[in-house]
Amino acid sequence: MVSLSQVRASNSLISSTFSEKLVAVFVGGTSGIGEETAKCLAKYAKSPRIYIAGRSRDAGDRVLAECKRINPSGQYIFCKSDASLIRGADELCNEIKKEEGFINLLVMSQGVYDFSRSVTSEGLHLLAALNYYSRIRIIQNLMPLLEQAPFLRRIVSVGGGGHEGSLDTADFQALNVPLENLREHLSTLVTLGLQAVATSSPEVSIVHGYPGTVKTSLLKDVPEETLKTMTFIPLEECGERHLYLATSSKYSPLKSEYAGIPLGDGVEVALGSGGQAGGVYSIREDCENAPPEVMQKLAELGANGVMEEVWSHTLEQFARIEENYKKH
Ligand SMILES: NC(=O)c1ccc[n+]([C@@H]2O[C@H](COP(=O)([O-])OP(=O)(O)OC[C@H]3O[C@@H](n4cnc5c(N)ncnc54)[C@H](OP(=O)(O)O)[C@@H]3O)[C@@H](O)[C@H]2O)c1
Repeated sequence: MVSLSQVRASNSLISSTFSEKLVAVFVGGTSGIGEETAKCLAKYAKSPRIYIAGRSRDAGDRVLAECKRINPSGQYIFCKSDASLIRGADELCNEIKKEEGFINLLVMSQGVYDFSRSVTSEGLHLLAALNYYSRIRIIQNLMPLLEQAPFLRRIVSVGGGGHEGSLDTADFQALNVPLENLREHLSTLVTLGLQAVATSSPEVSIVHGYPGTVKTSLLKDVPEETLKTMTFIPLEECGERHLYLATSSKYSPLKSEYAGIPLGDGVEVALGSGGQAGGVYSIREDCENAPPEVMQKLAELGANGVMEEVWSHTLEQFARIEENYKKH
C-alpha cells in the first residue's frame, strides 16, 4: 500500500517538478472524485489551466470559483457537455482542441448510479456509455494533444481497476449481464479497451483506478440503512490519491521523460498491462496493482484475443453512431 503520507509527500512536489504551465481536463469534474481531484491539483500546482466538464453549469461555476479561491494563479474553464453521448464527447474535445496545443493530464470520472439498463439516444447502455464508450472516444480525440505535452502525459479513468475478471463477449454493453457480474464485466471491458487504445501511444500512460467506497452524490439514492454498513474512504484522501495516480512516476509510460514525480522512499514502480512499466495500469484503492490472480486473468484475456474483440466492437459502435449523427 502507498500510505497517505507518501501520497501527500509526492503531491507536494508537483509545483517544483512541473514548473511550466500544466494543462488538465477533468470530465466529471463537477462533483465527487473528479471535483476533489481537480481542487487538489489547484492546491499543489503553480499555475495550472484546468478544464472542468459536466452537464451542470451551476456545479461547474461552483467548482471554478472554489479552484480560483484555492489558487488564484490558475485558469479554470467550464465546458458544458453530455458525455453519455459520443456526439457530446466529440463536441467537448473539439472545444478543447480549439484552445490548447497540448494536454498533460486527462482525468475521467463521469458516471451515474443507475442499474436500470437505460439506453442513450445513441443506442448505448447508459452505464457503459459513461464508464467505457465516451471515455475511449475522449481518449482517441485528445490523444494527439497528450502526445504533444512537453512533460507529464497521463490519463486516469476512475472506475473498477483491480476488479477485472470475466467478460461476456456476446453482450459487451452489459445490457443483460446479471447485476452481480456487472462491475466485473464493465471493469474488464474498460481495462481491455484502454489497453487497445494504449498500444499506439507508448509515450502516454493510462491508469484505470478504483477509488474504494466514497461518499459522494453518486450514492445519494442508497438507503441510509445500507450506507451505515459501508466503510468509506474520506473524499479528501480520495482526491489526494487520484492526484497521485495522475502525477507519480509509479505509473510512468515507457519513455521516462514523461514519467512524473520521482518515486519516494520505499515506493516501487507498478506493473503495466505487459507485466512491465508502461501501457495500462490497473490499480486498487491503495494505489497498488490489481491482485496477481486478476493480473493473470487479464494476461489470459490478452493471449486469447479478447482485447481485439473489444476493440473491433468499439470501433463498430463508433462508426454506427457517427454515421447516424452526421446525417442530422
Ligand atoms: N463514489 C464511489 O463510491 C465510487 C466507487 C466506485 C467507482 N466509482 C466511480 O467513480 C466515478 C465518479 O464517481 P463519483 O463518486 O465522483 O460520482 P459523482 O459525485 O456523482 O460525480 C459524477 C460526475 O459524473 C458527471 N456526469 C454524470 N452524467 C454525466 C453525463 N451524462 N455527461 C457528463 N458528465 C456526467 C457528473 O456531472 P454532471 O451531473 O454535471 O453532468 C459528475 O461530475 C463514477 O464513474 C463511479 O462509477 C465511484
